Amino acid sequence: MSSHSAAGSELGRGFNPFEPGFATDPFAFYARARREAPVCYSPLFDFWFVTGASEIVEITRDPARFSSVHNMTPVIPLAPEAEALLEQGFDVFRTQGLINNDPPTHTRVRALFSQAFTPRRIALLEPMVRAVTDELVDGLVKDGGADMVAQLAYPLPIRVIGDMMGIPRADLPQMKAWTDDFMFLLGGNEPPERRLERVRGILAYGRYCQAMIEERRRSPRDDLTTAMVEARVDGESFTTAEIVQQMVILFVAGHETTTNALGTALFSLLQQSEVWRGLGGDPGLFLAAFEEGVRFHSPVQCEPRTTTTKVELGGASLPEGAKLHLVYAAANRDETVFESPDKFNIRRENPNRHFGFGYGVHFCVGAPLARIEGRIALEVLRARLPNLRLAPDFEPEYDMNLFFRGLKRLPVRWDAP
Ligand code: HEM
Repeated sequence: MSSHSAAGSELGRGFNPFEPGFATDPFAFYARARREAPVCYSPLFDFWFVTGASEIVEITRDPARFSSVHNMTPVIPLAPEAEALLEQGFDVFRTQGLINNDPPTHTRVRALFSQAFTPRRIALLEPMVRAVTDELVDGLVKDGGADMVAQLAYPLPIRVIGDMMGIPRADLPQMKAWTDDFMFLLGGNEPPERRLERVRGILAYGRYCQAMIEERRRSPRDDLTTAMVEARVDGESFTTAEIVQQMVILFVAGHETTTNALGTALFSLLQQSEVWRGLGGDPGLFLAAFEEGVRFHSPVQCEPRTTTTKVELGGASLPEGAKLHLVYAAANRDETVFESPDKFNIRRENPNRHFGFGYGVHFCVGAPLARIEGRIALEVLRARLPNLRLAPDFEPEYDMNLFFRGLKRLPVRWDAP
């Protein structure tokens, strides 16, 4: 086994994002894991979690040995009853799309998505993103206080990705509920009856997406759903099941991550009130501040991979078929890459070299969109809410599953006009 096996087995049992308290500060645990066993087995989840930056770079650059094909498989397997129910509709956990695919297919599918998300195309969305942000701030500016998670960080990205995909605004709360079903089945740990209810949600979600796809086949529009319907890879269209899977992933990846990123970045900025005030004088800093928030908090904490062969890595010997959990959040605090990694510092020299958007061939295709949303949200808040500050006595509480981590609430105050 691993040369770190003694430390590793004790450490491995300590990795439990479901344990109360873990979510408050997982970073101290990650730091210990990086030092003692950067590739460490978790008996609870039957996977190896990887915390060292150099190991994560090696893995993400080598999809032939570290496959993403099983990336959307629930970490805690579904019970047979739930599996049987899932078979009655679209199996969004097994159908292959972009995130759960390997080259060469991944490369071809990715080329299609990249076209929709080039920085130039995304820059064209800036007026829309600004309008949505202004509309949200208009709705709260007179109040002198708000929960910025519920009132900005959540509605902004969900409306933007909803508009891009052509989802009516009135349907967004339902889409959010189905997204929760998906995420809790994928990375959560709930009782079997609750999981069955969530599978029913997934079936309804699939039917909703199918109806949208059929409608776009009859009457195409200028939206991402139509783009997926019309896309061809090697002359072939995606099947309905593939488009459903891609819609589910695009929608969740397009909002939940950015909600968590916006809430946590704003929190860290408001904790350093002089930094928040200083942002006003240098427009270039808004993006750097958002980017540092993504590094520091890592809204996407982990992503899986599976070995396709026996591998020696970080002092551990892994068998073929070993499940890995790449802890990007741990790599983002690796002192061999970042100076004073536990400091939130918006003036880092290399803000773009972090792991918050992943690394290698699966690097986040939506990063240009997330960056524009983050920059504009911070710009608008800084300009329109004078003296924005954290609510007195605010104690952060985090929602965390095996993949995502974000603030439950962010109560703030400002001097209302
Ligand atoms: C701050 C916000 C975001 C964060 C922190 C984030 C993080 C990530 C990470 C870590 C990965 C790598 C997955 C892996 O290694 O397997 C990824 C991939 C991906 N992200 Fe994001 N993301 C964000 C926003 C977005 C947005 C806005 C979209 C879409 C509109 C999006 C769509 C995707 C997709 C489709 C992939 C899969 C890419 C591939 O497999 O080639 N993300 N993201």
